[in-house]
Amino acid sequence: GSHILSVNQLNLDAVQEIFSVASRMTPYALRRKRTTVLDGAILGNLFFEPSTRTRVSFGSAFNLLGGKVNETVGIGTSSLSKGESLYDTARVLSSYSDVIAMRHPDAYSVREFAEGSRVPVINGGDGPNEHPTQALLDLFTIQKELAAGGRSISGMHIAMVGDLKFGRTVHSLSRLLCMYKDVSFTLISPKELAMPDYVIDDIENAGHKITITDQLEGNLDQADILYLTRIQEERFPSQEEANKYRGKFRLNHNIYTQHCKSNTVIMHPLPRDSREQANELDNDLNSHPNLAIFRQADNGLLIRMALFALTLGVDSQLEQHECPVNW
Ligand code: CP
Repeated sequence: GSHILSVNQLNLDAVQEIFSVASRMTPYALRRKRTTVLDGAILGNLFFEPSTRTRVSFGSAFNLLGGKVNETVGIGTSSLSKGESLYDTARVLSSYSDVIAMRHPDAYSVREFAEGSRVPVINGGDGPNEHPTQALLDLFTIQKELAAGGRSISGMHIAMVGDLKFGRTVHSLSRLLCMYKDVSFTLISPKELAMPDYVIDDIENAGHKITITDQLEGNLDQADILYLTRIQEERFPSQEEANKYRGKFRLNHNIYTQHCKSNTVIMHPLPRDSREQANELDNDLNSHPNLAIFRQADNGLLIRMALFALTLGVDSQLEQHECPVNW
């Protein structure tokens, strides 16, 4: 097994293999079947930055394959807070684990950690840089949602909205979309929070069309996928600086029905900011059938189970290790 640090390591064949294994995980994720294929294996789940979905779904994914999870949460609870390097930390923790999932506030920190690790390391988000497993679950969701309506990724139009500078999920997702043909991008953000040039270059080099704007209304009418993001306030120098942008682009039922196609799929990596004047995705869309945000989170379990099975080389042995569900 090798590390999963960036979507740039993946090609279309690799992505399709991940999706195929992810689909096979459905009966286990739904607890209709049980497998103990990872019996005896230990996941080191290292989250040096807050997380709900990524940390818990990595843990549950490993548990659902029969493995055990060893958690480290917060820099303050680890000896990183005493000045220990990522390299030394990795050398030590990798002998306690068979695979490591890691999130950290600094760009490229997970790569630095992986250099010291003797076991595969999966990037659960490295600062503003990348979030490859989120992008895979997003792409898997996009494919499923579009296929349900007879559409496909090639030829689709995606509008990405919000903090495209610090939002690592859109950096990774844009690169994955570069593997497909004829995708149109509308990038909607305040000018100061625009998509980084190196991502724009990748999109342009893939031959995709890009529209860049700081206006939400009037730029959503072509979108098959509307991908909203939160202002990543933890990356700003101060709260005041972040507050300038919070609540700037808000989607609610009224704006959606006025400005989007009737089959526009609404996505968001979550968490969304539910605080007054900040929420970018209003609760009045919660029961809308095109709101895919919780289907994204559910798909995260399938994708992470698939990544563990592939990384540890047990994807062909799932059925062989099935056992009864006793509860
Ligand atoms: N989407 C995502 O990464 O959520 P968490 O920060 O809760 O893990």
